[in-house]
Amino acid sequence: MVKLTINGREFQAEPCDTVLTVATRGGINIPTLCHSESIHDYGACRVCLVEVERRGRKRLVTSCLYPVEEGLKVTTDSDKVKRVRSTVMELLIARCPESIDVKEMAKKLGVTESRFVAEDEKSSKDNCVLCGMCARVCSEVVGASAISLVNRGTEREVALPFYDDTGACIACGSCAYICPTGAITLVDTATKRIISWPKGTADFPLKACTSCGIHFAPVKQLEYMAATAHLSPSEFELCPDCRKME
Ligand code: SF4
Ligand code: FES
Repeated sequence: MVKLTINGREFQAEPCDTVLTVATRGGINIPTLCHSESIHDYGACRVCLVEVERRGRKRLVTSCLYPVEEGLKVTTDSDKVKRVRSTVMELLIARCPESIDVKEMAKKLGVTESRFVAEDEKSSKDNCVLCGMCARVCSEVVGASAISLVNRGTEREVALPFYDDTGACIACGSCAYICPTGAITLVDTATKRIISWPKGTADFPLKACTSCGIHFAPVKQLEYMAATAHLSPSEFELCPDCRKME
């Protein structure tokens, strides 16, 4: 175990813990945009900045990635942290001015306007902050790797293989669920699921229940579940309601 302080309170932690994990466990709130317990952290949004003091030297670090160490002194709410975090939020608002989620988070942190504007209009319209959470949940949790971050620099963006190959996508919607800015949307109609990513839209047929006829889940997702669980596709013929009545 290692000992550290956060905002003057003493904590003990496992050497593999991050500052964010220990703070959260101790009831200290650090705002995050691109953190999820379900996937690896990547440190993209920088909203989780805190100040650490180590051997007399202070610096700002992303708490979701920074590992604890003996004697570390962490401050989560100093004036400097608040000032830089506000600037980060302003940059995020400029990057995705249409994102309600980003605006709400900014408001909670006392930021309602941005002094900045996105250099390139294209990126400011898709609401994507390039956090990569969609790609990581798809590969790390679902196991499909259907989308990824492609290109470099200002051309960096989220895309399907070759921009329109939905072959690996099972239409589960995990990317839409985890996206912190609402840049990915999912709509279920009576018979199909439509998913829109920043660079494209695709629709996927929903399976009709063999008993009541209602379309209840994407065909590809059910096939994937059957294959990964080594079950017969016939196990997925009924919607959840009809299954309960069996
Ligand atoms: S689409 Fe959403 S989850 Fe994916 S990189 Fe952009 S902001 Fe992050
Ligand atoms: S939550 Fe740590 S960088 Fe986004």
